[in-house]
Amino acid sequence: MGKYNFDEIIDRIHEEGSLSSKWSSNERMATMFLTDKLPEDRLCFFVADMDFRCAPPIIEAIKKVANHGIFGYSVVPDAYYNAVCRWMKDRFSLEVKAEQIRCYSGAHSAVVAAIQKLTKPGDGIIIPHPTYYYTNDVIPQGRYYASFQMKNDNGYYTFDWEAFEALCKNPQNTAVILQQPHNPTGRIWTEEEIKKITKICRDNNVLMICDDVHMDFPRNGNKIVPFINVVGPEGIVLITGLGKTFNLAGLHITNMIVQDEALLEKIGPVRAALSPFSTAACIAAYTECDEWVDELNAYLDESVNYVVDRLHNELPKLKVFRPEGTYILWMDFTDFGMTAEEINQKIAGEAHIGLSDGAGMFPPEGTIFRRMCVTSPKSVMKEAVDRLVKAFNA
Ligand SMILES: Cc1ncc(COP(=O)(O)O)c(C=O)c1O
Repeated sequence: MGKYNFDEIIDRIHEEGSLSSKWSSNERMATMFLTDKLPEDRLCFFVADMDFRCAPPIIEAIKKVANHGIFGYSVVPDAYYNAVCRWMKDRFSLEVKAEQIRCYSGAHSAVVAAIQKLTKPGDGIIIPHPTYYYTNDVIPQGRYYASFQMKNDNGYYTFDWEAFEALCKNPQNTAVILQQPHNPTGRIWTEEEIKKITKICRDNNVLMICDDVHMDFPRNGNKIVPFINVVGPEGIVLITGLGKTFNLAGLHITNMIVQDEALLEKIGPVRAALSPFSTAACIAAYTECDEWVDELNAYLDESVNYVVDRLHNELPKLKVFRPEGTYILWMDFTDFGMTAEEINQKIAGEAHIGLSDGAGMFPPEGTIFRRMCVTSPKSVMKEAVDRLVKAFNA
């Protein structure tokens, strides 16, 4: 047993102070579980936040701020930028200068800022499908969505190079949103893929917005290498982890790294509107929590492998790719020959499991795909697999 207890069951439904959206009982949940009265035994895996307590140094840092008792306008001190630079250097061999960092209140706001400052209204933003949801980051900014389907070889997704290049060649499409590793497919792009994507983008002046919020989650000893490391900083905006890595999504905090001087100038100075809690949490996370992240990743490897192995063995019709990175499983129910409603009835109605519907991530095929975040203690993951196997084998 390691130093940290990821097996602890924490009651995020009833415990005062939880305020968890994933475990709350609101209308959205009732719709997901196809009922007016939410099942008390429901298990939720649809949001990418984890049911593990944060690393102790982060909790201590937040307590210090709380105990101080004054929450006025706050500064983002040098210690913050030093901590980000240290993390990027030690964990990713990426040398970053403090002036190349911009902090935003979450990855979405960083993506929106990149779109607003580095593209024009009317531009197309290229998004490989399946994808994490960026609709609200693109459409309300007056840009349009230019998507293409990736190739799916039994759950192993790769770029359709012709489709991607055709979109990049259209001068109206000026940016692409990439992810390393990719949500929901779990792919880590190889060096060859990174070089090919970059060449096509640079040949056609397409900005690369790299949303790498899952960058600290390699699976099974894989290595996650940000695009900048492979191809240099030109035309790249890198959005780093933190909210996902340390389970701090509710503190709304992300760092953007831009090392291309022309892009940095266009982004300009950003007033860092972080709460003192977020600032203190980031400093503690990036200076004192390496060991916690390493133990967490070892735990996630075991959990993810356990779930994938059992699904492969006990539900062979379900296609699930063993993710190279992230804790996300992308599940293809095609071979069951069921409608989307029948699949929902099994998952939510019978098993009382909450998964993300793939419809928004992979139109039009996504209605028969589901996404599962393996982010709960192992005993909970076991119960979830038991229920899914029972429901689909019935
Ligand atoms: C790839 C990706 N980008 C962005 C986000 C949203 O991040 P934030 O809550 O920091 O805006 C998520 C959340 O699941 C994600 O998986």
